[in-house]
Amino acid sequence: MFYPEELVEEVRMKNDIVDVISGYVRLQKKGSNHWGLCPFHNEKSPSFAVSGNKQMYHCFGCGVSGNVYTFIMSYENYTFPEAVKMLAGRAGVNLPEVEYTEEMRRKENKRARLLEVNKEAAKFFYYQLRTPRGEIGLQYLKKRELTEETMKKFGLGYAGKNGTDLVQYLRQKGFEDELIKEAGLASFSETRGLSSQFWNRVMFPIQDINHRVIGFGGRVMGDGEPKYLNSPETPIFDKRRNLYGMNFARTARSGNIILCEGYMDVIAMQQAGFTQAVASLGTAFTSEQASLLHRYTENVLLAYDSDGAGVKAALRGIGILREAGLYAKIINMQPYKDPDEFMKNLGKDAFKERIDQAENSFFFEIRILERDYDLKDPESKTRFYREIAKKLCGFSEEVERENYLQAVAEKYAIGADNLRKLVISYASQTGLARPIERPKSGVQQKSSPQESRKKSQRLLLTWLTDEPGVYQKIKRYISPEDFTEDLYKQVAARLFSDLDKGNYNPAGIISMFTDEEEQREAASLFNTNLPALETKQEKEKAFRDILLAVKRNSYEYYTSKLGTDVNALKQVIEGKKALEELAKAHISLD
Ligand code: GTP
Ligand code: MN
Repeated sequence: MFYPEELVEEVRMKNDIVDVISGYVRLQKKGSNHWGLCPFHNEKSPSFAVSGNKQMYHCFGCGVSGNVYTFIMSYENYTFPEAVKMLAGRAGVNLPEVEYTEEMRRKENKRARLLEVNKEAAKFFYYQLRTPRGEIGLQYLKKRELTEETMKKFGLGYAGKNGTDLVQYLRQKGFEDELIKEAGLASFSETRGLSSQFWNRVMFPIQDINHRVIGFGGRVMGDGEPKYLNSPETPIFDKRRNLYGMNFARTARSGNIILCEGYMDVIAMQQAGFTQAVASLGTAFTSEQASLLHRYTENVLLAYDSDGAGVKAALRGIGILREAGLYAKIINMQPYKDPDEFMKNLGKDAFKERIDQAENSFFFEIRILERDYDLKDPESKTRFYREIAKKLCGFSEEVERENYLQAVAEKYAIGADNLRKLVISYASQTGLARPIERPKSGVQQKSSPQESRKKSQRLLLTWLTDEPGVYQKIKRYISPEDFTEDLYKQVAARLFSDLDKGNYNPAGIISMFTDEEEQREAASLFNTNLPALETKQEKEKAFRDILLAVKRNSYEYYTSKLGTDVNALKQVIEGKKALEELAKAHISLD
């Protein structure tokens, strides 16, 4: 642990979770919780609940949960110590300066180390670009009309032709070979030993929303293959969840965000003053990236390449954006291939005009669709109209559908009444084309015995945090030892001892763990979906079933350990007794 546990707790308690999350998500009080749209997945109606009592959040849609620290860690992509620092600042708590001892360095978590090694590598590339060996890279960037200031802003660099310089530099900074490999910066070969993954490339550090380097893209000098080489996925580099340029775009305050395909496009646009430009990371645009955009804007302008592949990618992107509840418009880049070339040839004023003229995504889709039909042929024309009707059915809201219907009818000189008939006929054939709801993940999966054992333990812990009063009635039957997963046992031990002291504090328990995965898992223990039950009898029966399942599992578990575990015999004897008593006992939930 970086900071003493009491300090971590003090900071947590001084940052009310409802206050903190309200700064990021619009929340509305309903019942005992505050509800909002989950910032971690796409949704149109709120299933993200923040509990002031528990000082925890839980999303009933995607299942994430945690306390104020895990929220900040997930939202800001911070490590645990960074989250502590930020929240301490917010609450005006002074933190002691942490001296990095050798010991702590080793214990520091993986994410922090990966961030550090990337930062050092970025520095190395940056300086290389300014050495005689980096001249070729510098000339390349100058030829692409980037200013000194832009290169600095994006931290552009150069990976030289010598593959071992970087490795030596990083070793000398105290990074182990294993970490350098895991960061995707170098790989091992029999002939060359550990050597750089990037070679003779201009380097684009990829930053998260807080300007931390999480990976790299490298563009080859000349015509080599692949043109762009990206870092592999690592624990800090998730290509589905990050966008290039988002660290600047998030504060652009332009009322929209421009989404494009290439790093150079982002840089060219930002250099021209369009600091709201972002790009996906060498892979197709994802719904997670749409969620990220949704945190900052409702309006997305697509500036994809104007070739066939770009149009196809734009159509795909429109679908994802719409699904995420974002409005999309398409910027016409003709006659140029991409924003970078457009900017070089026509400049920023012309680009601004193109932004103002950006085409509504629905009209764009229809226009692309039209290319497949011959409007001079009555039959083909009819099929085109039917396709339009089908697309109109995608708008579930009637007013919106009607507005689009009228607009498109006018544009293509179709009688609005006739088009409406087509829509109604299509809708009645298909039961109004609404996308079919996908089953929520995990619900119907058959689970393994181990998983169901864990499930009942989770249910019991959630129940006890929801109704802490019940603990007193069952404490004689249950002990932390009944929780057969190590992490569950630690959580139960702490929860029970807190409850014995009359100190109910589940959010604090999460911060017992410094490892992010463990925090996530601990949080999930308090937020398992409990069965929705109506009557008191149903509830009491369900609770009893859960308690019995936990006890029976524990009994079986220790029975199987007899002879190998010194503790087992005691557990088996006590477990048997408790099960017999429980068979007779009535546990009331009043
Ligand atoms: P320049 O030629 O430097 O202007 O590149 P561009 O941005 O015009 O490139 P292009 O349209 O070919 O590609 C757009 C984006 O796709 C790039 O920024 C990369 O992120 C990605 N990309 C391009 N080529 C490759 C490749 O060979 N491999 C991978 N993984 N990604 C690529
Ligand atoms: Mn280009």
